[in-house]
Amino acid sequence: MAGGRVNLAMVFLMALHGLLPPSTHAALQDGFYGTSTNCTVDVEAVVRGVVEQHVSRSGDGGSGAGLIRLHFHDCFVKGCDGSVLIDPSPVNPDPEKASPANGGLRGIDVVEEAKRQLEATCPGTVSCADILAFAARDAAHVLSSGAISYDVPSGRRDGLTSDASGASQSLPPPFAQLDDLVRAFASKGFGIDELVALSGAHSIGRAHCSSFRDRIHPAVHETMDPSYGEDMRSRCPEDAGAEEWVAQDQATPGDLDGRYFENVLAGRVPFNSDRALIDDGETRRMVEENAGDQVEWAAKFAAAMRKMSELTGTGEGEIREFCHVTNRG
Ligand code: HEM
Ligand SMILES: *[C@@H]1O[C@H](CO)[C@@H](O)[C@H](O)[C@H]1NC(C)=O
Repeated sequence: MAGGRVNLAMVFLMALHGLLPPSTHAALQDGFYGTSTNCTVDVEAVVRGVVEQHVSRSGDGGSGAGLIRLHFHDCFVKGCDGSVLIDPSPVNPDPEKASPANGGLRGIDVVEEAKRQLEATCPGTVSCADILAFAARDAAHVLSSGAISYDVPSGRRDGLTSDASGASQSLPPPFAQLDDLVRAFASKGFGIDELVALSGAHSIGRAHCSSFRDRIHPAVHETMDPSYGEDMRSRCPEDAGAEEWVAQDQATPGDLDGRYFENVLAGRVPFNSDRALIDDGETRRMVEENAGDQVEWAAKFAAAMRKMSELTGTGEGEIREFCHVTNRG
């Protein structure tokens, strides 16, 4: 359609496509790009290369932590369809990114860089949703020094819609209680063992002061370790600005290592949603098991991440040209 020439075969295919029932979606496949497309580059290797260039265990895990959170926030809202990547625009001023649940997102530049490289070699072929799913997996591999490893099936389509209200409904807030968390995860088909294992992602990355201010001001909450609480009060004073943050895991901030579970047991975590995992005997036992056996935890985390990557929405969608905007703008 570029240059105004209309290709009849294309029009036919588009009309045919319009007749397909909207809920039809192909099952995801391991190695989809190698077997089901004409793309001759190794798509997953391209993504891995970009991730390895940008992600390291230094600091708090930086954009790698961002990618893992992005993938969770993508998949829990209408399935893994890249809807979290959409920027506000005149036609859609209120996408998922505008929800408070998506404050502080980072790592999107890594997805965009991989997309740019793949558009150059295999135009119109690789979805942003697949790139994000691969990139989160690769970030977990890097930040865990190889302990976390799993295959990501692919063939996702990029969604056509993105609404802030969807994110606010599906993503629990940091002040959530255990029953809220269990309900939110159950509604996506995840059991409590998976909720606990996945929460181990809070072994990396950052927590903005604003998301746990109420646990340290005016006083350190009784469920928090007092010396940790004092430390948090000095890093996040009452008048801390919106940009100020701390590492979620003060001990090993850039290692996706399950240290988180020891922190939860010790009361050394910023969010109530982390602390709350020991409010119940059964979830407390799971936290203790994960703290005691990090190899076992890494396997559970990998399995739950793969399962998260398989959450699908309506299956309607497209291959976006740019990840931050649908092809219609
Ligand atoms: C169980 C409910 C959860 C709640 C309430 C929650 C909440 C939060 C909040 C408030 C932040 C801080 C964001 C910031 O201040 O920049 C955060 C960060 C993060 N979350 Fe969660 N989260 C949950 C589960 C998960 C899951 C399941 C994953 C992935 C498997 C995940 C991965 C991350 C990562 C990696 C970060 C650090 C992001 C960065 O440093 O940019 N979270 N989470
Ligand atoms: C791959 O290329 C062949 C030959 O040009 C074409 O017939 C086929 O439809 C293409 N397959 C895909 C999935 O694009």
